[in-house]
Amino acid sequence: EKDITSKLPLKGKKILITAGPTYEAIDPVRFIGNHSSGKMGFDIARIAAHNGAEVILVAGPTHLKVEHPFIHLRRVQSAQEMYDVCHEYFEEVNVTIAAAAVADYRPKNVALQKIKKNDPTFIIELEKTKDILASLGEKKKNQFLIGFALETENEIEHAKLKIQKKNLDLIVLNSLNDKGAGFGHDTNKVTFIDKQFIVEPMNLKSKESVAQDIINKIIQHYDA
Ligand code: CTP
Ligand code: CA
Repeated sequence: EKDITSKLPLKGKKILITAGPTYEAIDPVRFIGNHSSGKMGFDIARIAAHNGAEVILVAGPTHLKVEHPFIHLRRVQSAQEMYDVCHEYFEEVNVTIAAAAVADYRPKNVALQKIKKNDPTFIIELEKTKDILASLGEKKKNQFLIGFALETENEIEHAKLKIQKKNLDLIVLNSLNDKGAGFGHDTNKVTFIDKQFIVEPMNLKSKESVAQDIINKIIQHYDA
C-alpha cells in the first residue's frame, strides 16, 4: 500500500519546537511568568506536521491544544524542565525552532510553604535561568537551528549578535513597533536574518502565515 505522506517535503525530518511561556515558582501557589500565548509555536508545529515532519512540541503552560499523529506534545512548567526535555531529544532531531518565551530569571529559593504577608519589605532574590537555545547551539552538529528575538532597540544589530552567540542558522526577529504585532495578537511582523546576515523583512501577517514562511525556509534549506 502506498504511503500518501511519502511525498510531503518534510517527510523523514524530526523537528523540535519550544512554545509558550515558562513559569518559575516562588512558592507552592505563585510564580513568575509572561504573556506568551504559545500560538506561534503551536502554529509552527501544526504546519510542520502537515508537511510530513515528525514534531516534538515542548510547551510551557498554555491552554492551547493540539491533536495530530505526527506531533508528540511534552508539557513543561519551568525553564529548567524545558531545558531537560529539549536535551532529551536534540541529538535525534534535524531541526530545532525555539519559539518559547523562556523566563530569563527565576527565584533563587522556592519557598516550601505559601509565603505569608507579614514581611513589610519582602524581596525575591533572582538568579539566571539556563539559556536553552544557546546550550543547543553549543551541542549542534548538523541540526538546523532557528531562534526568535524580541528587541525594542537596535533590533537588527541585537538579532545578529544572538545568531552568533547562540550558533543559529536563522533568527526570526519580532517587531513590537507595529500595531497588531506580538503578544496576544493573531498577527506578527517579523524579519528573517540568516547566518550570512542576509536581512529579509516580511509584511505584517497572521501567525499562521509566519509559521508557513518559517517552514518554507526549512524546506528550502533541504532542497538546496
Ligand atoms: N531562549 C532560550 N532559553 C532562554 C532564553 C531564551 O531558549 N533561557 C531562546 C528563545 O526561545 C528565543 C531566543 O532564545 O528563541 C531569544 O530569546 P530572547 O528573549 O529574545 O533573547 P535572550 O537571549 O533571552 O536575551 P535578552 O532577553 O536579554 O534580549
Ligand atoms: Ca529573554
